[in-house]
Amino acid sequence: MPAISVQDLSKRFGSVLAVDGINFSVEPGEVVGFLGPNGAGKTTTMRMLTGYLPPSNGSVQIAGHDTFSDGLAARKAIGYLPETPPLHPEMSVSGYLRYVAAIKGMPRAARKPAVSRAIARCGLADVAGRVISTLSKGYRQRIGLAQAIVHDPPVLVLDEPSVGLDPIQIREIRGLIEELTAPLGAPSSARESGVDRQTVILSTHILSEVEAICDRVILIDRGVVALDESLASLTAGGRRLEEVFSQVIAGDRPPAGAAS
Ligand SMILES: Nc1ncnc2c1ncn2[C@@H]1O[C@H](COP(=O)(O)OP(=O)(O)OP(=O)(O)O)[C@@H](O)[C@H]1O
Ligand SMILES: [Mg+2]
Repeated sequence: MPAISVQDLSKRFGSVLAVDGINFSVEPGEVVGFLGPNGAGKTTTMRMLTGYLPPSNGSVQIAGHDTFSDGLAARKAIGYLPETPPLHPEMSVSGYLRYVAAIKGMPRAARKPAVSRAIARCGLADVAGRVISTLSKGYRQRIGLAQAIVHDPPVLVLDEPSVGLDPIQIREIRGLIEELTAPLGAPSSARESGVDRQTVILSTHILSEVEAICDRVILIDRGVVALDESLASLTAGGRRLEEVFSQVIAGDRPPAGAAS
């Protein structure tokens, strides 16, 4: 059963068709880079995957649960880092994560170990007692990731996890994602085994990040899938992703500012 399955998914905002009948599925353990120029429809698609935005047409199943008819189960199977994480600035880091664990429906006894684990995995131990509003952007992004993984969901949807971070923080977040997609406690080579790996779909504009951590690339342009291919075949023969990306996007693109 695919971890994520998307059929004929569309979203219209007034006269703007932001997502125009896309189809794809993601197998358990895959790490998919979801790419596309500004306004391509990445965030809109991710909001529909996670059940936060109703589609105008089409459907989504997460680990076999339909986001519409079986929304609660679908949402439980997902960890979501939105473009703007819904942090509660007045709460402490650990207090906020305990709160998230509760609203995700985790049983009381399971929350404390889950919060400790998320704090450890996201490198938040030094600031666990701090009030969120006093922390830097990089730490707040880590808290965003921690709230996405706290209930140990099989599927992670990460909308630009490294946006606004400095190069060192970007590398740390990348390391964290690599770790998440390997079984707990295993060396990263264990990723290959496919056992207990989390499925990840992440959007980013940093192509080196995609080259470093993704198995596969889905490129959308003006709401349609322009490319869906494994990273290995895209970069065969030493081709850079940037080259592939600009070739696919350049095609028949209207001048900037033109109506789509
Ligand atoms: N709530 C909304 N109301 C109206 N239009 C919207 C809304 N949300 C998104 N759009 C439009 O839908 C299109 C796709 O936007 P979306 O945010 O999904 O793009 P994106 O690929 O995430 O871009 P970026 O790389 O800039 O984050 C854009 O034309 C945007 O203006
Ligand atoms: Mg976006």
